Amino acid sequence: MSQQFDVVVIGGGPGGYIAAIRAAQLGKKVACIDEWQNAKGGPAPGGTCTNVGCIPSKALLQSSEHYEQAAHHFADHGITVSGLKMDVAKMVGRKDTVVKQNNDGILYLFKKNKVSFFHGRGSFVKADGGLYEIAVAGEKPETLVATHVIVATGSNARALPGAPFDEKLILSNDGALNIADVPKKLGVIGSGVIGLEMGSVWRRLGSEVTILEAMPTFLGAVDEQVAKEALKLFTKQGLKLQLGVKIGEIKTGKKGVTVAYTDAAGAEQKGEFDKLIISIGRVPNTIGLNTEAVGLALDERGAIVVDADCKTNLPNVWAVGDVVRGPMLAHKAEEEGVAVAERIAGQHGHVDFDTIPWVIYTSPEIAWVGKTEQALKAEGRAYKAGSFPFLANGRARALGDTNGFVKFIADAVTDEILGVHIIGPFASELISEAVVAMSFKASAEDIARICHAHPSLSEATKEAALAVDKRTLNF
Ligand code: FAD
Ligand code: NAI
Repeated sequence: MSQQFDVVVIGGGPGGYIAAIRAAQLGKKVACIDEWQNAKGGPAPGGTCTNVGCIPSKALLQSSEHYEQAAHHFADHGITVSGLKMDVAKMVGRKDTVVKQNNDGILYLFKKNKVSFFHGRGSFVKADGGLYEIAVAGEKPETLVATHVIVATGSNARALPGAPFDEKLILSNDGALNIADVPKKLGVIGSGVIGLEMGSVWRRLGSEVTILEAMPTFLGAVDEQVAKEALKLFTKQGLKLQLGVKIGEIKTGKKGVTVAYTDAAGAEQKGEFDKLIISIGRVPNTIGLNTEAVGLALDERGAIVVDADCKTNLPNVWAVGDVVRGPMLAHKAEEEGVAVAERIAGQHGHVDFDTIPWVIYTSPEIAWVGKTEQALKAEGRAYKAGSFPFLANGRARALGDTNGFVKFIADAVTDEILGVHIIGPFASELISEAVVAMSFKASAEDIARICHAHPSLSEATKEAALAVDKRTLNF
């Protein structure tokens, strides 16, 4: 016998589980299907983000940062550490515990909000009389019938042709989060977000990390001034970044992985690594969804085609998160999930794509919202920019973390904030103020006139806003 629901969500990552909870809050009868399995074969909702993405990477970044602090920076505070050791198995075990706490938290939230959870793969069977039949292939096969379907099936790591992930030598994000011993030499292809975050983790623990990047410019989407500072600091930390390379043959052997590549000067090179992480972007995932059964339209990249409201080509079928256009970020997926649930309930859910923040959790962290200086130049828009270095911020000095700066860009005439770019301590937290300000269409002067606690890193934000008008007080 099939079970009937107002809303069936396929995929329990941040897009899907949040959509399910919001729809349930709005009084809908909701099911969420997710196929992710933990090591024991049990359910592990939370998707890429919880299992092999945001959460585990931040757990390892935190552990490795503690290690680096103890090894290199505690001495500045008069703290001597002797016999410092890294137990990688324990670090990875802690990361697994953090992941499990999040999986369990989502199962609890489903219960609390009366969302029916189904563990297994969901696929379209047919559309019939305005309803959709969805099969769940799991331990207990089920058939669900839905008035509305939200597809939130996420994305998978993109492989390089001829170098499939074996997760032992050639690693996707999954294997990169589960390395058992610190590799002596770690190769990374792609200097994007994953390459820099995972490269930082293993470098801090002692790996010699080489990152091979195809583009001639570093972090092209980031404000140029920030990207330049980041390149300088990461290189100083010991990351070997090679830009403008062309990857050739990748071979695995008993001793590790060999990567043939042409460097920026055109010379043939060979990199020998104990392990290789390939982080060259991700592809939308519709594997096993049986989109053909109902005629759900995909684009040439395999993403589900949606309009600005996340409506697909089919009535009452919606799609959110990494499986559709736009940035592949957990908070973007969540916002779309909430907006779709609200639209289903007859409300006017909205996502402001212009104020989605980005964060790279390296040290220093990099965070931004809105437009970069180079993008505004290309648009020909008149702007004013001002920045303030953490070196001149009292709290940053007390922390012993003075690298980087906050930069504001505002419209030359109206002073409306167009972009805020931060490289420095806790940039991930500081960026929220800029997101709020931009969401309320604030001017740089609005931020400059607001009282910020002293001593705090947020004073650098206020000072950068003052810098737009060339009147910093502490620099
Ligand atoms: P996913 O999280 O991929 O979830 C999709 C879920 O659907 C999965 O559980 C999958 O098993 C399930 N599924 C797929 N098909 C089916 C099916 N047919 N039936 C049932 N279930 C199915 N983003 C950030 O914002 N901040 C970060 O710090 C960050 N760090 C990251 C670090 C790494 C290493 C990686 C790889 C990604 C990171 N991301 C980060 C990106 C973030 O993880 C994704 O943007 C986010 O998970 C997308 O959410 P989603 O719900 O669209 O898809
Ligand atoms: P990415 O898009 O961030 O970076 C990929 C990099 O690989 C680019 O610099 C690209 O030029 C390079 N590249 C592509 N093909 C190449 C080739 N053949 N040879 C060499 N270099 C090549 O992708 P990444 O790092 O895989 O991450 C995927 C997505 O996951 C990110 O875009 C982001 O949306 C999400 N993510 C977000 C995080 C965060 O918010 N902190 C952390 C990690 C991932």
